[in-house]
Amino acid sequence: MSHIKATPFIKWAGGKRQLIPYILSKMPKKFNNYFEPFVGGGAIFFELSPKHSIINDINKSLINAYIQIRDNHEDFLKIIHAFDEKIVNGKKEYFYQLRELYNDKIMKQEYDMELACLFVFLNKHCFNGLYRVNSKGLFNVPYNNSLRNSCEIDNIKAVSISLKNVDIITGDFEKVCNQANKGDFVFIDSPYAPLNDNSFESYTKEGFDKESHERLAKSFKKMSDKGCYCMLTNHDTDFINNLYSDFKKDVINVKRLINSDANKRFGTEVIITNY
Ligand SMILES: C[S@@+](CC[C@H](N)C(=O)[O-])C[C@H]1O[C@@H](n2cnc3c(N)ncnc32)[C@H](O)[C@@H]1O
Repeated sequence: MSHIKATPFIKWAGGKRQLIPYILSKMPKKFNNYFEPFVGGGAIFFELSPKHSIINDINKSLINAYIQIRDNHEDFLKIIHAFDEKIVNGKKEYFYQLRELYNDKIMKQEYDMELACLFVFLNKHCFNGLYRVNSKGLFNVPYNNSLRNSCEIDNIKAVSISLKNVDIITGDFEKVCNQANKGDFVFIDSPYAPLNDNSFESYTKEGFDKESHERLAKSFKKMSDKGCYCMLTNHDTDFINNLYSDFKKDVINVKRLINSDANKRFGTEVIITNY
């Protein structure tokens, strides 16, 4: 099999595929290690596939899927293929049966191969590929009536290859940012700050509130003082621009893929850099 370029194996909110050309054009020409503290679906990581990388996310199930695919893509493909075969006949009932099994394993903290397959299967068969949990941390997104396969075999093999030798960790961003050193490149794509400041509350369901953005800005400054190359993307708001007023800013026009209001289908984002 010729080596294909890996692409994200899940659909993820805030995915950066649209910004790839801009981000590539503004990257540092040379850097040591690559850090991505908020990896999500990994659009930028897979585009770059840097040699020495540390990727992180606070979502334990997501990171478990990265680790299981890296370490044993054969078993991953075998198990998820069985799920895909059964959904054809089982349809809705089978989806909710697997969702229940997933939540059961989450409650028992069983981060293993089966959970990784359930996570990717649910991502591809739930409404809009949304990852949403209730106040107990249990996944509660409905079925999207799809019978399609959860993944492409060749892409999973390519993902597994591109994750070899990559440090894959889970936890809060600050711990990872503290590990970055002079000459390293840190790409930061945290949850968005809301488009208007007074709706911060509704954003805290994701647990990334005003204080978290302020803490991230401190981390960005600290890494800058250490001589790291830092790039951050977020909504073009007064709040974000004030937090990073000491740094270089580029404004990018973007399409907002998921917006019921036609007037809000276009917007601007910022790329903040310290070099
Ligand atoms: C906008 S998404 C990243 C999207 C990613 N760039 C992509 O291409 O798919 C932000 C990510 O930050 C993660 N996150 C939220 N709070 C975090 C924290 N305190 N530390 C680390 N990751 C966090 C979320 O789980 C989510 O995956």
